[in-house]
Amino acid sequence: MNIKFLNLGKQPLANQYPSFANKRQKKYNLNICFNTKTKIISISKKMKSEVMFNKKYPYRSSMSKTMKESFKKLSKEIIKRFNPNLTLEIGSNDGALITNFGKKKAIGIEPCSNLAYMTKKKGFKTYNKYWNFDLAKKIRARHGLIDLIYSANTITHISNLNDVFKSINYLLKNEGTLIIEDPSLLECIKKNAYDQFYNEHIYIFSAISLRKILKKHNMQIFDIQTLDTHGGSLRYFIKKNKNKEVKISDKVFKQLSTEFKFGLNKLSTYKKFSSNVKKSKNQLISLIQKIKNQKKIIVGYGATAKAVTVINYCKINNKLIDFFVDTTPEKQNKLLPGTDIKIYKYSKKLLSNVNYIFLGAWNFKDEIFKKEENFIKRKGKFLTHIPKPKII
Ligand code: TYD
Repeated sequence: MNIKFLNLGKQPLANQYPSFANKRQKKYNLNICFNTKTKIISISKKMKSEVMFNKKYPYRSSMSKTMKESFKKLSKEIIKRFNPNLTLEIGSNDGALITNFGKKKAIGIEPCSNLAYMTKKKGFKTYNKYWNFDLAKKIRARHGLIDLIYSANTITHISNLNDVFKSINYLLKNEGTLIIEDPSLLECIKKNAYDQFYNEHIYIFSAISLRKILKKHNMQIFDIQTLDTHGGSLRYFIKKNKNKEVKISDKVFKQLSTEFKFGLNKLSTYKKFSSNVKKSKNQLISLIQKIKNQKKIIVGYGATAKAVTVINYCKINNKLIDFFVDTTPEKQNKLLPGTDIKIYKYSKKLLSNVNYIFLGAWNFKDEIFKKEENFIKRKGKFLTHIPKPKII
């Protein structure tokens, strides 16, 4: 049974940035649910993939140094540990991972044509399609079974998980490896990062819930890595049950036991989280209000999907946050979805009169602190809501 435990209010589609003139933006109710049987956390209203991921999709994996480096490091690790002849990435975005492999050694799947075009242009076989069983059949007929399937921050964006894993199972060699990485539910709850919830994040996985889904599809997790990316992610290494050669690492049992101890299998944990989220909202509004009463300028840094959730949930407008800056061309000279706050192209000059920076991309805090040494030197302050609203 699905039980709603958190209501994040009226929210717009996160990655659709309207022009300055567009005052009327559609919103929907964002509720978060816990499934008592599968232990999975999901949003209640699931949008169609076609509505969210299309030719105008603005999110680019290569826009942050941290992500680019993480993918580069991983590609080296994949080659060293598994040496696959052919790697397939579900949700290859702008190629931050696959372009680290040889052109004949990696295939991308990317439904957003603007992004698929970027890897096609570089000579990488890219299917501009949504991941589903029909596509898996087509790929198997053309390329045969695949040695390694990888997917970061994509599987949790697809509503039909059974179809996702059935398709992977069909295409992966019996001795092949599936690697998926997504934000960790444990980190999300620990950090009170309610902004991980938006229309694209249909699910937030825990090792507990993922293990249950995989079991249904005769697969299992054999290793886990913890990552700093996206505010704390887990990278799961998965094999088919048929493959008896591979041992299950202690890290898997350790992660499961930590999650059970924390209570990720219990509704009471999410009820507590929900009440912490409400507190966080009130604290953030009063903190920003206090700063604004002193006539200071506050600017949002990183017009992230996460920021869209926070700003809409807390009903913050351009009287409180003056504007946002972002390095992504597709987001510039647009409004932060659901709000009247403008997004401008990032430049150091634009920040020269700014007193406070609200960290929309708090997950890249270290990268941002390094970049903004001058802002820090001239006593500029950072503002964050993670894990609690505070000035840094
Ligand atoms: P990310 O956390 O990946 O976004 P989301 O919540 O949407 O998944 O953050 C990436 C966004 O932050 C992207 O729009 C680029 C922006 N950004 C900057 O503008 N400057 C920076 O220095 C960094 C690190 C990110």
